[in-house]
Amino acid sequence: MLTQQTVLLVGGTGRTGRRVLQQLLDRGVSVRAIVRSGGKLPPDAAGNSNLTVIEASLLSLRDEELQQHLRGCDAVISCLGHVLSLKGVFGPPRDLVTRATMRLCRGVEALQPPAPVKFILMSSVSVNHTGGLDTRRGSFERALLWMLCGVLPPAKDNQRAADFLLEKIGPRDAFVQWAMVRPDSLLEGEVSEYALHEGLVNSLFAPGSTNMANVAHFMCELVMSPKAWADWQGKLPVITNAEASGPLTVSRSEP
Ligand SMILES: NC(=O)c1ccc[n+]([C@@H]2O[C@H](COP(=O)([O-])OP(=O)(O)OC[C@H]3O[C@@H](n4cnc5c(N)ncnc54)[C@H](OP(=O)(O)O)[C@@H]3O)[C@@H](O)[C@H]2O)c1
Repeated sequence: MLTQQTVLLVGGTGRTGRRVLQQLLDRGVSVRAIVRSGGKLPPDAAGNSNLTVIEASLLSLRDEELQQHLRGCDAVISCLGHVLSLKGVFGPPRDLVTRATMRLCRGVEALQPPAPVKFILMSSVSVNHTGGLDTRRGSFERALLWMLCGVLPPAKDNQRAADFLLEKIGPRDAFVQWAMVRPDSLLEGEVSEYALHEGLVNSLFAPGSTNMANVAHFMCELVMSPKAWADWQGKLPVITNAEASGPLTVSRSEP
């Protein structure tokens, strides 16, 4: 019998994060959510006895405080993103996702857990897996991405967070294992069939789409299903709604 899983969730008040939170609770997972404002949590989730809300500014927590929240967790999920406003995109912290990823991973390592903790990062198809399985982008697309990373702090931030996991944590860390989930353009909508791909399938000029509910469903699978984790840990799966072409895996909609 599986023991109850415990997940530390950051970004749980966001569009995708709140869906992750709800689906984890629906599956009986115990969730610790670090949020800036508890009032932004979905009312259904807020009263759930499996939810512990920690109201704090994530990047301002001291190392010991963060480690206290990480202690005993089986997985950490980050759905952090820059608020889509002038201040959110161009103001501090420009390295929100990178800094949170680094602090959370280093916090886990400091605890030296007996079994590796899963770190599941919401990333983006704008993130390149250099040397990986991504199909080669055309030179114009690569130039555009390079420019976007220079001009738009969130694009650079997502790439740096990915580079940290790929290069600094790597595939054989004793305490942290990771997977980076790369959705295409995010849509509202229910959980539906979706496809998982080892590398990029759409260009920036002809994007695909991904229901946020499907991202949440897949993240829950990564937490709960040993097979899903074995298939995707150490990888950057691209997730698209199933009507997109060329699926490697199609998951049924069982929230
Ligand atoms: N939009 C797309 O089409 C798309 C596609 C693929 C990937 N992505 C990526 O997916 C991620 C999540 O996207 P989303 O649209 O679900 O996010 P979102 O709705 O913008 O939510 C962002 C979350 O991050 C938190 N946050 C923002 N600034 C923070 C700070 N300084 N300190 C602590 N928490 C902070 C927010 O908290 P508050 O509620 O307190 O503000 C919220 O919980 C982003 O990294 C984005 O780049 C987006």
